[in-house]
Amino acid sequence: MTGKVETHYGGSSNLAEQIANDLRAKGLEPAELTPADFEALDEFHFRGRAATLELAAQMRLTAQSKVLDIGSGLGGVSRTLAETAGCHVTGLDLTPELCAAAAEISAWLGLAGKTDFQQGDATELPYADNSFDAAITVHVAMNIPAKHRMYAEARRVLQPGGVFAVYDILQGEGGEMIFPAPWAAEPSISHLATPQEMETLLRGAGFKLLDSIESTAESLRWLEERTASTGPPPPVPITTRLLFGDGFREMVQNQLRALRERRMLTWSFLCEA
Ligand SMILES: C[S@@+](CC[C@H](N)C(=O)[O-])C[C@H]1O[C@@H](n2cnc3c(N)ncnc32)[C@H](O)[C@@H]1O
Repeated sequence: MTGKVETHYGGSSNLAEQIANDLRAKGLEPAELTPADFEALDEFHFRGRAATLELAAQMRLTAQSKVLDIGSGLGGVSRTLAETAGCHVTGLDLTPELCAAAAEISAWLGLAGKTDFQQGDATELPYADNSFDAAITVHVAMNIPAKHRMYAEARRVLQPGGVFAVYDILQGEGGEMIFPAPWAAEPSISHLATPQEMETLLRGAGFKLLDSIESTAESLRWLEERTASTGPPPPVPITTRLLFGDGFREMVQNQLRALRERRMLTWSFLCEA
């Protein structure tokens, strides 16, 4: 199971080099860009950086905070938190190619001292109890069947009172998801929980639920605007499409239909350890 998820997300072993070459071919020098410029590539979730900033505002972060980003991908969420709160963020991700590229992008953007990236499994975190002041996970659990283990691990590594922000894709009441989707080319690696199941899972792991917010309508609007491409082009003309090639178009069309038909939902949960 784990191998299939890594294979789905891991493409090139030289992802950072490929990104740097693509940027230079378009006249852009990686080290002259800002974290916000990379949004279309490295904030791999609905509503991109704006959604991360909304979560960050609720996480009570300070410059002293030690934060864990579970399923950090190319590191956009980690860098946005580190840049805006001045905190230190450790990103953990199952896919080694993404961890290596995330570290390289942080180095380009002068955030290597504020972020580090480590390969690992969210259901078996390689950290001691109470290691972090806050944690976040964005669009990750849809690949994880053992969600009870993932959330128990998040609770274990957090200090009591620490905030855990969860933003994920959930199962809606409109029917099964349509594949391929960006998180799964086929159903065997897709494991969507319903909003009710999420609340039970998070409480069962020992979290106090502070807030839960549905954002499906906003996600649909955001994706419709992006696909209509009437707005200004992103500052960096490289998007998450890089990871999936031409198959990404079908994935996006399936997401649009699934959001409209409420087969998939987006929700965030703010919890306290
Ligand atoms: C859609 S991406 C989201 C990445 C990032 N959170 C973001 O929002 O930009 C999902 C990520 O979850 C990671 N992932 C999936 N299963 C995981 C697991 N069991 N442990 C850690 N990471 C996992 C994948 O490797 C991938 O990088």
